[in-house]
Amino acid sequence: MSAGGPPGRPALLSLLLAAAMAFFCSAMSKDEARNRLLMREKMTRVGGRLVLGKQEELANARLMALKKAEMAQAMKTQKFPPSMHFFQAKNLIEKSEVFSILKRMPKGAALHVHDFSILSVDWLVKNVTYRPHCHFCFTPKGTLQFKFAHPTPPTPTPAECSEWILLEKYRRGLQNITEFDNSLLKNFTLMTENPEVTYANQNIVWSKFGTIFFMIAGLVHYAPVFRDYIFQGLEEFYQDNVFYLELRALLLPVSPLSCPLLWLDFQISLCRSSQALCPSTGTGLNAGFISKGTCAFPGATVSKDP
Ligand SMILES: *[C@@H]1O[C@H](CO)[C@@H](O)[C@H](O)[C@H]1NC(C)=O
Ligand SMILES: *[C@@H]1O[C@H](CO)[C@@H](O)[C@H](O)[C@H]1NC(C)=O
Ligand SMILES: *[C@@H]1O[C@H](CO)[C@@H](O)[C@H](O)[C@H]1NC(C)=O
Repeated sequence: MSAGGPPGRPALLSLLLAAAMAFFCSAMSKDEARNRLLMREKMTRVGGRLVLGKQEELANARLMALKKAEMAQAMKTQKFPPSMHFFQAKNLIEKSEVFSILKRMPKGAALHVHDFSILSVDWLVKNVTYRPHCHFCFTPKGTLQFKFAHPTPPTPTPAECSEWILLEKYRRGLQNITEFDNSLLKNFTLMTENPEVTYANQNIVWSKFGTIFFMIAGLVHYAPVFRDYIFQGLEEFYQDNVFYLELRALLLPVSPLSCPLLWLDFQISLCRSSQALCPSTGTGLNAGFISKGTCAFPGATVSKDP
């Protein structure tokens, strides 16, 4: 107690000081507790407990530097792909260096992938529609239907579609084949320059989506194509370094083969063509088949056709 001053004042001062100290100290520990909680939460993320090696630290630093540079560039151009419609962003994403690194990095599983949407449509146009015996017709809505048939054109004549036209012959009569191929590409995807205008509501986009599946099914439901198609699809996932693929397939009969035989044959040719893709080696891409159809699939009991 100091002499001279009014009694009680120093006591009040030290009380205030003590209260302030207590507040300050508890604030510190709250921050610390919060940081620890955040750290614990971060560690529960995938790879959260992973300690990077020296090389990995370097790779990470390089990737982060590229990411920051791309974000800084986006600030300048005001074109930031994550904030854009995917159709408009796709071109930019494909040019991104970060994307090209992510593309090559190992991935886990691609789940719930439908059989008629597993690969780039370029391959459908450049490879499948250039095969012999491919017929097509125009519907009144401006869409197309496809069917492979040999030696005679497919029967019956399609309902609500023009007569069957042999694609090979049709192409020969065209002035500009590139233009036609581009129109096919447009038929096979939802891509458009003004998605918000073209697809004003969900029903419109859903209807186009269904039309595309129907069109592609006509191309793919032909045994020689189907085999190459599935193989090419697996190849593309393999190139993207995906480790596991869950493929959803109806596995309807694939003209002219009945499916069980086709699948046996397919599995064998897959293993022969690429060791990396062979399901039985346990290396490379593993593919799981989930089928709602009536057809048998690899791994299940397959009954051979006589
Ligand atoms: C189409 O793909 C198959 C199988 O991948 C290949 O053997 C063939 O050469 C390709 N044809 C064309 C025209 O690209
Ligand atoms: C053919 O069409 C493409 C795409 O529309 C165009 O770029 C090209 O110039 C055309 N070629 C000729 C010879 O007209
Ligand atoms: C689909 O292809 C046909 C034939 O080239 C073309 O007339 C039609 O405009 C295409 N449809 C779309 C949506 O591009």
